[in-house]
Amino acid sequence: MNSLHISNNNLIHHNLKTTITTHVSKHHKIHPTKLNLKAQLTTDTTTLVSSEPKTKRTHEEVIEAEKKVIVGTYGRTPVVLTSGKGCILYDINGREYIDLTSGIAVNALGHGDADWVQAVTHQANLLAHVSNIYHTLPQVNLAERLVASSFADRVFFCNSGTEANEAAIKFARKFQRHSHPNNPSPPTEFISFTNSFHGRTIGALALTSKEHYRTPFEPVMPGVTFLPYGDIDAAQELISSGKIAAVFVEPIQGEGGIYSATKEFLKSLRIACDKAGSLLVFDEIQCGLGRTGYLWAHEAFGVTPDIMTLAKPLAGGLPIGAALVTERVNAAINYGDHGSTFAGGPLVCAAAIAVFDKISNPTFLASVTKNGAYLKDIVKKKLGGNSHIKEIRGFGLIVGIELDVSASPLVDACRESGLLILTAGKGDIVRLVPPLIISEQELDRAVDIMYECLHVLD
Ligand SMILES: Cc1ncc(COP(=O)(O)O)c(C=O)c1O
Repeated sequence: MNSLHISNNNLIHHNLKTTITTHVSKHHKIHPTKLNLKAQLTTDTTTLVSSEPKTKRTHEEVIEAEKKVIVGTYGRTPVVLTSGKGCILYDINGREYIDLTSGIAVNALGHGDADWVQAVTHQANLLAHVSNIYHTLPQVNLAERLVASSFADRVFFCNSGTEANEAAIKFARKFQRHSHPNNPSPPTEFISFTNSFHGRTIGALALTSKEHYRTPFEPVMPGVTFLPYGDIDAAQELISSGKIAAVFVEPIQGEGGIYSATKEFLKSLRIACDKAGSLLVFDEIQCGLGRTGYLWAHEAFGVTPDIMTLAKPLAGGLPIGAALVTERVNAAINYGDHGSTFAGGPLVCAAAIAVFDKISNPTFLASVTKNGAYLKDIVKKKLGGNSHIKEIRGFGLIVGIELDVSASPLVDACRESGLLILTAGKGDIVRLVPPLIISEQELDRAVDIMYECLHVLD
């Protein structure tokens, strides 16, 4: 029936696709039900290019369809989002939500920022991907900005946070081999901390503290010791053993529950690493690039790392990761030691330049500091008196509200009332990571909704 609604060209397109599917099935023996499904899908796709409204499926149909075709790794919230502007998201039924999640601290400029869209469309028209066999302008232009604005001398690009940490793991091991040319067993071990989250691939997973993320996939990378976050003595003792290639630490822990390091802790790690020849790696994948009101979160602590890993907000919603390193680390790395087909492609780097140029502006960073202080203040004033709230913490626009019960009922009630928020830690912490462009009025409205919904915790 769909073909009745489509133009002649599209009808030809449709018939062609059906023919191709049938042809393929003859040779590859596709199961008949799969063939039917494929024919149905090609028809649906064709309908999408007709003049019909684009949203053909209902909320329920999308969720049901997903259950059949997506690997079940995500316990998704039952919302089907279709568009967004600024700090507002819209679902398939046209319902509006204030977004205090930013796609888990990714959409720093909100949704559909005009300069970001311009940069992406311009670059998409010019050149999207060529691989790292060739030089491209956006990659070097972005790297120069990152180097000029940080402790780092060099950048390695990748495609996600976990990959940035995998790069840091490999660079740390290679650095130790390079620094101990005559030692057949140079330091290869790592320190990570309680409540840490560094990613889901086997190396980064080995550094991630939550046991239930790791145990189903063991053996993960060996040689990781977890120490209590903030325990200076334990860290100093283990680092001085001489076995540690690198210490991985988030200056502010995001997934773990918005726990902030202290200056003393990070300084002591820096000193101990320098003494022992270990590398200090700051994972700023969630807390970096303006979220704290500082360009880099570690600026708040006055301590610099040897490697800093970045990802989430860097390209404003396109997949990117980066490991920023000093010249000392770079000197240990040779051609072929690491690489990635997609990494640092022109499209994603052009997007990242648009993001970086906005966020690195001191006026922009000052607005994050101001709005972050405002958010914490209104959360304290409006919600702080509730008996379920144990602590309100964080700084800049990364704020955690620790509860004495699960935060899920509150998250659900807020969503029903048009507000999207996240949890963290063991699910008992509300995590607020709005787009960095959020206004005081939007924050007021969001906190009012949370206040109106608090009763569900009783
Ligand atoms: C601090 C930190 N490191 C690493 C990661 C992993 O990033 P990705 O999901 O892009 O692999 C995350 C993701 O939440 C994170 O918050």
